[in-house]
Amino acid sequence: MLERGPLKPDGSERRVLVAGATGYLGKFVALEFKRRGYWVRALTRSARRLEEAGPFTAPGIAAEKIDDVFVGEVTKPETLDDLFDGIDLVFSAVGISRQRDGLSFEQVDYQANRNLLDAAQRAGVQKFVYVSMLGEDQIADLAITKAHEKMVADLQASGLDHAIVRPSGYFSDMGAVLDMAKRGRVLLVGDGENHFNPIFGGDLAEVCVDAAEGDAREVEAGGPDNLTQREVAELAFDVLGKPAKITVIPMWLARGCARFIGLLSTQFGDLAEFIVTAGEVDAVAPARGKTTLRSYFEKLA
Ligand SMILES: NC(=O)c1ccc[n+]([C@@H]2O[C@H](COP(=O)([O-])OP(=O)(O)OC[C@H]3O[C@@H](n4cnc5c(N)ncnc54)[C@H](OP(=O)(O)O)[C@@H]3O)[C@@H](O)[C@H]2O)c1
Repeated sequence: MLERGPLKPDGSERRVLVAGATGYLGKFVALEFKRRGYWVRALTRSARRLEEAGPFTAPGIAAEKIDDVFVGEVTKPETLDDLFDGIDLVFSAVGISRQRDGLSFEQVDYQANRNLLDAAQRAGVQKFVYVSMLGEDQIADLAITKAHEKMVADLQASGLDHAIVRPSGYFSDMGAVLDMAKRGRVLLVGDGENHFNPIFGGDLAEVCVDAAEGDAREVEAGGPDNLTQREVAELAFDVLGKPAKITVIPMWLARGCARFIGLLSTQFGDLAEFIVTAGEVDAVAPARGKTTLRSYFEKLA
């Protein structure tokens, strides 16, 4: 039975590496590990961006708030020497969301995480916690799903103790809906009637650290509000005190645009396919978050 929790049997702090620490979820997770008493190393490609608050209420992480900042490129294993020195536990939320690096999901969501897994195994790390996605079977053909699930399969085959976190949508993406509402109009793909229960990054961070400390191999997590895309848009306008102006992009048109974008750029085409598909599938997970979307919108507004 593996020992878990922030302290080792000798009383020293358990050491965790947080990869993807500059991202929306990663920032909350690094601080949550620290709050629970772990020794925390953040992997980032920009110490400055780690320190700055991120968009959509992601907190800034000043160097003194954690124990170590390691600057490296997770896509370039040669920059990761010594990254795992002394590390007991790895958490990774590395993946493409809004990055414009010209890299594919295969290169980042799969290969960069695979680089971490290989190095973690060589270093004798005890456990790897990885963030994938919810409802992978419904969206199995998407490039992002294939990349995430390839990593999941490698983790499962690795023999390493692990946990896979499968979240519904993030509040950061809901913040983008509020931004559209502020500009006066929200665009929805499809009829906007598909359901999901997005989760606040701070709440999901607690789920992720619980997963690191628990025995479950797969953890699904969503927020307290089960809403349709259209209801999210209406909520955004309501919080702003504006009349709801929603334009629906029919699925046939959205699919056509995604295919056209794919002809120009594989990376943006894959991203567009993902956005379009997210407009038609449900993604409802057990409600583990407590923060309501209304309270989040009120804070952002
Ligand atoms: N958004 C959702 O609704 C949702 C739902 C389910 C699962 N997920 C998954 O959750 C994970 C985290 O999402 P998030 O919204 O927190 O994403 P995010 O804010 O974009 O953070 C992703 C992290 O990956 C790093 N990264 C991306 N491309 C990189 C590259 N080329 N080289 C090095 N590092 C790179 C980012 O570093 P930089 O900050 O330096 O770019 C960042 O630290 C992703 O794997 C995502 O697929 C998201």
